[in-house]
Amino acid sequence: MIKVLFVCLGNICRSPMAEAIFRQKVKEAGLEDKFSIDSAGTGNWHIGNRPHEGTLQILKDKNIDSANITARQVSSEDLKEFDYIIAMDAENLGNLHRIKGREASGEIRRLLDFIPESEVVDVPDPYFTGNFEEVYDLVEEACNELLTYIRKKELQ
Ligand code: 4NP
Repeated sequence: MIKVLFVCLGNICRSPMAEAIFRQKVKEAGLEDKFSIDSAGTGNWHIGNRPHEGTLQILKDKNIDSANITARQVSSEDLKEFDYIIAMDAENLGNLHRIKGREASGEIRRLLDFIPESEVVDVPDPYFTGNFEEVYDLVEEACNELLTYIRKKELQ
């Protein structure tokens, strides 16, 4: 099983969106049985909550399933368990490196680094900007690249 974890701050806007989009892409590629996909937040404010209504709305508009997604906080155990830990921005990335223990073996990366030509390197936080469409476009493009990257590494 290839285990992929998306991480943001609250786990209600960006990372659940990335989780749902990436799951859809994996499904379309017929690789569902090879992947385990989840998301988590570095913060604890929204534990147990459903995604933000802006994230739910855009996923609905794009016909992407968002059922069964609830917020949780990332743990150092996650960094041992998951193969790919994908941060939405530099702050998340820094926090992940801070909680990472010695046994952490997964690749910890920033999502937009998978679009090398991207001028935007951090996924803007729509909790503050209100712009969920912008986030969707960035995350969607990066998820294509991420899946290509993982397939090359794991499945060829
Ligand atoms: P997210 O956005 O990290 O994309 O889920 C946020 C959601 C909630 C908060 C911050 C960012 N908050 O401060 O509660």
